[in-house]
Amino acid sequence: MAISTIEWEDGRIKLIDQTLLPNEFKQIYCDDLPTIWEAIKSLRVRGAPAIGIAGALGAVLGIWNSSARTYNEFAAELKSATEYLATSRPTAVNLFWALDRMTKTAEDNRALPISDLKEKLLAEAQDIIEEDKAMCRAIGQHGMELLNENDTILTHCNAGGLATSDYGTALAVMFSAHEAGKQIQVFADETRPLLQGARLTTWELMQAGIDVTLICDNMAAQVMKEGKIQCVIVGADRIAANGDTANKIGTYNVAILAQAHGIPFYVAAPTSTLDYSLKTGAEIPIEQRASEEVTEGFGKLTAPKGVKVYSPAFDVTPASLVTAIITEKGVASPPYTESLKAMQDV
Ligand code: MRU
Repeated sequence: MAISTIEWEDGRIKLIDQTLLPNEFKQIYCDDLPTIWEAIKSLRVRGAPAIGIAGALGAVLGIWNSSARTYNEFAAELKSATEYLATSRPTAVNLFWALDRMTKTAEDNRALPISDLKEKLLAEAQDIIEEDKAMCRAIGQHGMELLNENDTILTHCNAGGLATSDYGTALAVMFSAHEAGKQIQVFADETRPLLQGARLTTWELMQAGIDVTLICDNMAAQVMKEGKIQCVIVGADRIAANGDTANKIGTYNVAILAQAHGIPFYVAAPTSTLDYSLKTGAEIPIEQRASEEVTEGFGKLTAPKGVKVYSPAFDVTPASLVTAIITEKGVASPPYTESLKAMQDV
């Protein structure tokens, strides 16, 4: 995309408000911590890598106007900002990874004057953005090797440029293949309840000139049975050390369907999405969302008022259903405990 998903501009954060897409393309500014917190919570900025960037820039916002005179005062302000941002969304590990990186940068540079320390933290957040861009491009290059001419790919949710600094993870594979001249088609799951697939993935793919067909989530089995899908590629919010993968609710369904139809199921994610501290996906915290997102998500009541709702935002696909994990360092194959560990050491 020519326009950044999220960036720093003159002392504040500028981001595309994704809740308005595809009806309206609008960039908004976040001038203070509650505004960027709300932007993350309400999915104005969303997708694991983009949430990480929002956290890093949010940490900068938290100290940018600090009048602290000692490092300890400054560190206390940074801590309160990062702790607050960490309460916005629990599942994408990129948020906590980025916040930890910002804290460590401050500690490593504690001898600097406060004004230089602020600049150092901004530079770190900018590094996270630049590294994310490079990782997305590399994921695209590695992933496209897995695609054959005329393949049709099914994807779920949105793991595109909007979910990262630029270019995406699962969609990076499609963008790279398309740019390399491979003929590919894509089926995009609508992705209830917030329709990231319908609103964002189709929008991004159409802009890139990629042949995309929208389906409701409950159509995937039939489409696979009709032989229309050659592989599934999805993003991830957190991958445990054994390869169990948390991604948007409904991903697990798709993985089971893919296995039932003998279709490869690929996860594309940067290594910043790997959480080696968790042995299995059972330890991944799953965000619960408000019932209104299910009953009146887009302003119209679609269920009786007061009905009980259960709305986990993510599910965990067991590693046994994942054919390969595409990262910027290459393609990991089962057993993931070994292949992902080897990537950590590179
Ligand atoms: O709730 P969201 O829209 O933040 O969920 C996003 C996803 O599940 C994406 O697939 C994932 O973060 C990977 S983004 C490259």
